[in-house]
Amino acid sequence: MPLSRTDFPPGFLFGAATAAYQIEGHAHGGAGPCHWDSFAATPGNVVRAEDGARACDHYHRYEEDLDLMRDGGFDAYRFSTSWARVLPEGRGTPNAEGLDFYDRLVDACLERGLKPFQTLYHWEMPSALADLGGWTNPDVADWFADFTEVIQKRIGDRVAAVATLNEPWCVSFLSHFIGHHAPGLRDIRATARSMHHVMKAHGRGLARLREMGQDNCGIVLNFDHTRPASDSAADAAAADRWDGIMNRWFLEALAHGRYPEVVLEGLAPHMPKGWEDDMEEIARPIDWLGVNYYTRHFAAAAPEGTPWPAVEMREGDLPRTQMGWEIYPEGLGDFLTRISRDHLPGLPLYVTENGMARADEVEGDAINDPEREAFVTDHLEAVRGAIAEGADVRGFFYWSLLDNYEWAFGYEKRFGLIHVDFASLQRRPKASYLALKAMLTA
Ligand code: NOJ
Repeated sequence: MPLSRTDFPPGFLFGAATAAYQIEGHAHGGAGPCHWDSFAATPGNVVRAEDGARACDHYHRYEEDLDLMRDGGFDAYRFSTSWARVLPEGRGTPNAEGLDFYDRLVDACLERGLKPFQTLYHWEMPSALADLGGWTNPDVADWFADFTEVIQKRIGDRVAAVATLNEPWCVSFLSHFIGHHAPGLRDIRATARSMHHVMKAHGRGLARLREMGQDNCGIVLNFDHTRPASDSAADAAAADRWDGIMNRWFLEALAHGRYPEVVLEGLAPHMPKGWEDDMEEIARPIDWLGVNYYTRHFAAAAPEGTPWPAVEMREGDLPRTQMGWEIYPEGLGDFLTRISRDHLPGLPLYVTENGMARADEVEGDAINDPEREAFVTDHLEAVRGAIAEGADVRGFFYWSLLDNYEWAFGYEKRFGLIHVDFASLQRRPKASYLALKAMLTA
């Protein structure tokens, strides 16, 4: 890699990220069923109907995986604690094996000099709560706060940072409007409710963390660089609506205690009663914000008569990853600068996810992925640019440590620095891992 640690401020953390359902093997260790199990078992939702039952078997191989983190010279490990593993029924009696697992995992991080960055919700809604409406039920905020308390009592004394939720846009809009993720709804009322309840859960969970004396609490949002597809006024308005839904709804709620008007134009009639009263709780100060960034899109106005939001997405002509996502590092720099300038001045930011999928193949003993090395370099350069412009960026986590369960795409899309053979579960470092290791251990 052309970069070195000295190109970043002292103390800047380099890490890699994972999430429970994508790597652990949900069938092991007494986890309860979650909405991804049933979503995956329903034909047409997930490529080859694959699920997270075995995944990377990280539940049994976490020590080997954390050895790879340590040997790669990383400073921090971002992981999530599965709600359905900790509370198989979503509420009530905890699963002792699940709590023991996260206890061991955190200690194993510390033994290897890795700072544990915990995410409380990375998408495995327990089925018992999904049956009650999941994110559409207003009580979800209290259920989430209670889960928070159970897991933090066990590991909160040893984690370096805690995020309440990962990517509320995916939890709500992608899952209740587009239907691409569990629970696979396509319903505007469920969308409005989930988009608000997910932020209410953040606020309620954060309050519980504060009561418990937990340090360094934040949330992880995803951002997608959005520009109009043409210079027409209609496309500019469409891009504004899309930017509002994807990039501003959650950010403005946190930073300013409001939702963007262009989004309320569509969602207001479907919002839960009295939502305005929750905005103060949602906007309570956080200690840091996590930024997940992958790509850009262009937005065009949909034909007359199309219901809200009446946006059609268009692609540009930059090189793409295995996901079909254009590679646009400038977008990351733009977001970091825009967030710290316009929304949360002075707040520490972490890039909590950035990475690329590639159809990696084992050739002899090597896995050569030069595009990934270039991807990381270019995005790290964008981070440096944002820091030079004044953004307080404290770290960068590559997504992901391991090839894993890429949700509706199953196991086909390989994001890892480490290759996983899903038949034998053998781990093999890719060239990008070795390049990062050389940079981080130099
Ligand atoms: C965002 C999500 O947090 C993660 O679960 C997913 O695998 C990556 N992006 C790649 O799509």
